[in-house]
Amino acid sequence: MKSFFIGDIEIKLPIVQGGMGIGVSLAGLAAAVANEGGVGVISCAGSGLIHQKVPGDFLGNSIWGLQEELRVAREKTKGIIGVNIMVALSNFADMVRTCIAEKVDIIFAGAGLPLDMPSYLQPDSTTKLVPIISSARAAQLICNKWKGHYNYLPDAIVVEGPKAGGHLGFKSEELESPDFALEKIVPEVLKVAESYKDEKKIPVIAGGGIYTGKDIRKFLEMGVAAVQMSSIFVTTEECDASDDFKNTYINAKKEDMRIIHSPVGMLGRAIDSKFVQDVESGLKVPKVCPHHCIKTCDYINAPYCISQALLQAAHGDLRRGFAFAGANAYLAEKISTVKEVFDKLKAEFAAA
Ligand SMILES: Cc1cc2nc3c(=O)[nH]c(=O)nc-3n(C[C@H](O)[C@H](O)[C@H](O)COP(=O)(O)O)c2cc1C
Repeated sequence: MKSFFIGDIEIKLPIVQGGMGIGVSLAGLAAAVANEGGVGVISCAGSGLIHQKVPGDFLGNSIWGLQEELRVAREKTKGIIGVNIMVALSNFADMVRTCIAEKVDIIFAGAGLPLDMPSYLQPDSTTKLVPIISSARAAQLICNKWKGHYNYLPDAIVVEGPKAGGHLGFKSEELESPDFALEKIVPEVLKVAESYKDEKKIPVIAGGGIYTGKDIRKFLEMGVAAVQMSSIFVTTEECDASDDFKNTYINAKKEDMRIIHSPVGMLGRAIDSKFVQDVESGLKVPKVCPHHCIKTCDYINAPYCISQALLQAAHGDLRRGFAFAGANAYLAEKISTVKEVFDKLKAEFAAA
């Protein structure tokens, strides 16, 4: 596996660990991945719930919590650290500004189109801006808007296919359609990136269901610069979620991987559980919503608070939450170290 560049940043291995909220990829996992030569990514979703320095001050705690995760990550690694920011977060702007001020290497922004992201850059900014999209159309739209309004092009593009975990950028009928398979959309997104080659080299990173070294080789041979992998890193010692959360992956079977309707108005992929089934059959979990943390959340009618459900699951309370997971997450067999995962991927890549 060869190194690749995002702008002037050289990344030793073509593996980006996808951001996982809430509380699944924090400083521990991100630093371990960065130490192995990949990009380690902290998810800042819910950082104001995880870090409650000043009770009730969700916005302040979110900023402080992100700074705290970055500080811990920097203590553990000199490698490349990114932050995943959901565009749908109500405090998206705060999170982007904090990352830029903290000189985070790379921001990955998904779950919505980050159309105004370059507006936050300062003349001395070094942070690279990478949108996460699920179609060539969205890639083109972002390039047009960024170029037209800010004379800036993305520093890389992540293309996430329908086998990803968490919130998905696809409609129900698209999920199984060959027209929307990652193998189909990657060449289309590569074409968009390629059309700017005289102005800027925009590396494309493919993610969603990539689980083995053989998968990595397949997508690199299609022309992507790197892959984004998430589920495979959940079942590591360094992953920031609880052991109970990790064990849901190890115990899951293929038929347990399912699609849910998230209160934020998107589909999501998760591991089936009693909570998921109860919600489907009409269970409503009493909630208060003091923070309105997600712009698109129908918090009045939502049957439960997704932030609380995800955080409770990450902390090990799977009766009151559930685990997001990619389509191949059921392949997990045991908890290993991040180094063991990298060694296995390298060996499979070489053998493929
Ligand atoms: C537990 C979990 C949480 C996730 N949370 C986020 C998130 O907060 N923001 C985001 O952009 N993507 C999120 N994702 C999507 C991943 O970053 C990634 O793109 C995708 O899952 C890759 O597919 P894989 O899990 O099959 O490797 C999440 C995925 C998982 C499994």
